[in-house]
Amino acid sequence: MIRVLLVGHRGKYAAVVQNFGNNPKWEFVFAEDKKHGSKIYEEAGEVFDIVVLGLGMAINHSQEFYQEIKRSAADKKMSMPIVLWISSLKHSELSALGFYAANLYNKFIPEDTECLQQQIYDAISITLEEVSAVAAKHYNRVSIERIKEHNYVNCDLFLKLSESKFVKIINADEMFTPEIIDNYRNKGVEYLHVRLEDYMRFSDFIYSSLKSKFKISAGNDHEVVHKDLEMTSFVLETINNLKLDEETVKTLHEIGHSSIQMVKRNPSLKQLLEKAQQQKGYIYSHSLLISYISGTIAMKMQWASFQTLQKLGLAAILHDVVFDNERLAKIDNLGKIDYQNFTISEVNEIKKHPLLAKELIDKMKDLPPDVSSIVSAHHERFDGQGFPRALTGQHISQITALFIVAEDFVNTIFEYKKLDRESIHQISTRLKEKYDMGNFKRPYEGMLQTLNEML
Ligand SMILES: [Fe+2]
Ligand SMILES: [Fe+2]
Repeated sequence: MIRVLLVGHRGKYAAVVQNFGNNPKWEFVFAEDKKHGSKIYEEAGEVFDIVVLGLGMAINHSQEFYQEIKRSAADKKMSMPIVLWISSLKHSELSALGFYAANLYNKFIPEDTECLQQQIYDAISITLEEVSAVAAKHYNRVSIERIKEHNYVNCDLFLKLSESKFVKIINADEMFTPEIIDNYRNKGVEYLHVRLEDYMRFSDFIYSSLKSKFKISAGNDHEVVHKDLEMTSFVLETINNLKLDEETVKTLHEIGHSSIQMVKRNPSLKQLLEKAQQQKGYIYSHSLLISYISGTIAMKMQWASFQTLQKLGLAAILHDVVFDNERLAKIDNLGKIDYQNFTISEVNEIKKHPLLAKELIDKMKDLPPDVSSIVSAHHERFDGQGFPRALTGQHISQITALFIVAEDFVNTIFEYKKLDRESIHQISTRLKEKYDMGNFKRPYEGMLQTLNEML
């Protein structure tokens, strides 16, 4: 939620605020005058992202208030809120006060502007948008549970105070005690934040220290996974069936989460993904499951570097993202299509979807190149019977082979619904016939190991 404090004549702000309607994404708080504003600011100043200041106020009062919030931020070693200042001051006077330097998003509206109400409304709207983008641009969240397992981490950790304000609570490489983390947890803090530029390095640190713990055991942590990824019950049930240990599930879960976050930074992919998420249907649960299963296989193959898991996770989230019809997404063999039930253009859509997805992915510059090649080849088969390019086994890379085995397995569980001893046995036999060779051999063995541990 974005919190806006409006200081000045309440009546004059009323029309502006009314225009925003009742959107739960932001909250407006009024302070009639400087005194009232100071009181609110003293008590909980840090929760405000934006301060709108000056409407109907004496110029010296609004200047004093501005200096006050500046001082308060400096005392608390925090960044300034964004200030929209409606004022009779000149531009040059504001600059002299350091107004523009204090926060990049600060805005000044001359008091004698025509259509002042409209200008204020526009300025607040733009700023609300900017604030929503700030956090996404600079920080990535990390579950506090994850941090608790360590006594130091390799980058600075931040606490989120508001949408635009983050305060550093732990320095990179500094030792901390579980009590410190528990303290925040007890206050209801579920996530801490790391700078975006630190995130990859941070994840590597976290995962390498977890790697030694990758082993299968009974029981896992449903609640954490469920709350965060809003997974369908089918996905949860299957992960439970896999009997992965808590650490493994958490790692895979964070990979899934960070993949989704990364994808959402691209506007066109974001739209497609959100649509799939909202439907919560076959395509989304199938994609999540592939992310989990392919990650599990990679771990079994001793190939679980953060980069590998991330590539698989991203490919899983994206491979079928261009479909909006699950009927089409369920087809994995062009040879088996019943043309009574599918039109030519539907068949064409099926055939082209790996390349269409590849095109979209190639536009995202910050993704590792393997993601695009996995996605473009996810329907190729060892025997050259796949599509769209009918590649043969030796032209399919090992990471793509791993993905293909994982997707085949996921399709199989959708088919079987229940995984008992007999079905696991049948699945193993079928996978052996198709994949016990070439680049597919090691992924197949990893899958087999996972299956055997389910028995
Ligand atoms: Fe798929
Ligand atoms: Fe597909």
